[in-house]
Amino acid sequence: MAPVSIRLDGVSKRFDHTVKGEVYAVRDVSLAVAEGELLTLLGPSGCGKSTTLRMIAGFEEPDAGTILIGGKDVTHVLPNRRGIGFVFQNYALFPHLSVFENVAYALRVQRRDEASIARAVEGVLELVGLTHYGRQQSHQLSGGEQQRVALARAVVFEPQVLLFDEPLSNLDAKLRVEMRGQIRALQKRIGTTTVYVTHDQEEAMAISDRIAVMDKGSVVQEGTAQELYYRPRTEFVANFIGRTNLVDGHVVSAGDVEIEGVRVAFSSGLAAGERARLVVRPEMIELRAAAVCDGPHGRIVQRTFLGEKTDYVVALGAATLQVAASDQYRRPLFEIDQPVGVYFHADGIHVLR
Ligand SMILES: Nc1ncnc2c1ncn2[C@@H]1O[C@H](COP(=O)(O)OP(=O)(O)OP(=O)(O)O)[C@@H](O)[C@H]1O
Ligand SMILES: [Mg+2]
Repeated sequence: MAPVSIRLDGVSKRFDHTVKGEVYAVRDVSLAVAEGELLTLLGPSGCGKSTTLRMIAGFEEPDAGTILIGGKDVTHVLPNRRGIGFVFQNYALFPHLSVFENVAYALRVQRRDEASIARAVEGVLELVGLTHYGRQQSHQLSGGEQQRVALARAVVFEPQVLLFDEPLSNLDAKLRVEMRGQIRALQKRIGTTTVYVTHDQEEAMAISDRIAVMDKGSVVQEGTAQELYYRPRTEFVANFIGRTNLVDGHVVSAGDVEIEGVRVAFSSGLAAGERARLVVRPEMIELRAAAVCDGPHGRIVQRTFLGEKTDYVVALGAATLQVAASDQYRRPLFEIDQPVGVYFHADGIHVLR
């Protein structure tokens, strides 16, 4: 089936909240998901991710706005008429049914004939790596296997759109990483347009073509993982995607900025004398032996050796910096309280407007 696009135009949803009164769960959200694309809605708890997803599925009706799937207005179309495969956090399998019957369920509802059901179910069980599991009872499966059955069940009727709501949060860390790779590979293979919900930024970065970051019911920024990481538009996005340093820079001249007294050759686009709020990622700061560096020195406050890198916390003037050093195998680690030269890589600095 040819993949379809999804579009949300000015979609809002209010709820009556017992404590807070009437609240906007989703406020004026507009989104476009291209054909075959996997878009992730990422944001903290309560920001409106599930509500947005449930409106795409038709489980909730928007108070305002329109939802288009494949160019057709489905805003008021029933869920079972939207061609949606939905994977939930808690799997929602029928515990008394076999794996085969769980996956076959949607096809039986469609009154397909037995032979085509068997073909389709066996095909998707193979796709999710559960070829010989058909006769197994679903309550006998591990969490990861149950999640794969849920995935098979969502794709078996060749939906136009796949929706995932935190599908991996009940799995342990290692399995989560493995399953997200499998979901990604499956989605690319079948090419179904997908919206994926998570509050885990690493999962979002690993699985998505594009990410929409949500806060308090609104989409605050959309882009690829790299765009969001290197060019966050707000402090909220900078803090939510990866670890970050938010520091004040004093613009000395068109081509120079000073961070806590350390001069950096950097064109901020601001006039001399202005202050700039700067995003500097931990791996964009380099520590050097104090003896070889002029100017103000920082002081090591904390050190965490993590094998592939060492994380330092460094006090520099009024700032406390997170620094990730990944080339430590070549030289001794810095010691707590040791004075260090702090070097900012200019191409790793991003100005918040
Ligand atoms: N049926 C409902 N009735 C009342 N309020 C609701 C309802 N569903 C959601 N809300 C409220 O709407 C807001 C957004 O909820 P939503 O479930 O979309 O958040 P979320 O981003 O999915 O959060 P989480 O990461 O915790 O799942 C929350 O404040 C929530 O309390
Ligand atoms: Mg949710």
